[in-house]
Amino acid sequence: MIIKLKIFRFDPRRNKKPYYQTYDVEADPMERLLDCLNRIRWEQDPTLSFRWSCGHGICGSDGMRINGICGLACQKLVKNFKEEILIEPLPVFKVVKDLIVDLGPFLEKYNSIKPYLITQSSPPEKERSQSPEQQQLFEEAIRCILCACCTASCPVNQNPETASYVGPAALVRAFRYLFDSRDEAAEERIALLNQKDGAWGCQTLWKCTEVCPKEIPVTKQIGQIKKRIYESKHPKE
Ligand code: SF4
Ligand code: FES
Repeated sequence: MIIKLKIFRFDPRRNKKPYYQTYDVEADPMERLLDCLNRIRWEQDPTLSFRWSCGHGICGSDGMRINGICGLACQKLVKNFKEEILIEPLPVFKVVKDLIVDLGPFLEKYNSIKPYLITQSSPPEKERSQSPEQQQLFEEAIRCILCACCTASCPVNQNPETASYVGPAALVRAFRYLFDSRDEAAEERIALLNQKDGAWGCQTLWKCTEVCPKEIPVTKQIGQIKKRIYESKHPKE
């Protein structure tokens, strides 16, 4: 079948403003949109820029907006689209070129929540062990591949007045460490998250959960962070 891809184009070094370019691509219904983008680049237009690496929903580098919804091009089958498909870069972030955005600010926010295990006690002789039940608490959160689709879809992050909100991806990682039995920095983490632009920036709009390609219950996890903050301030008698 022949499909039409209408793609956002913008090279800040050459173009005064963005424009859209439409390509006809021969594709099998079972191919992914990433295959179509590659075919355009290899056979029609080598100037088209986009990121990808694994091709299988693991690296998180081909997040883009497809017919208005953020997702991974490598996870979208051609057969699920009709007529023309609109492909744009992730919103919220500055466009570097075409579908490539600057994820620097996204990673800065991610780093701000201290995305690593913090311990104070001396290391045990072997590894810091935990039970399968303890690991299960954050099992879903460790599926995050940092594709940024959630943060780009979040209306709070999209609003320039509230864009300083740390965003759902950073909060998923914060959840991962806050609920890890081996981590010893709960107090420090709660202080970091107990901020207007921290966990309380979330307005429970569920957009992040709707788009997450790894089906992480993002909004629910942010809710659990808020509950944990509340409980730390209002301990039960
Ligand atoms: Fe991507 Fe989901 Fe991680 Fe957000 S939580 S960065 S949507 S994998
Ligand atoms: Fe790696 Fe899509 S190319 S997640």
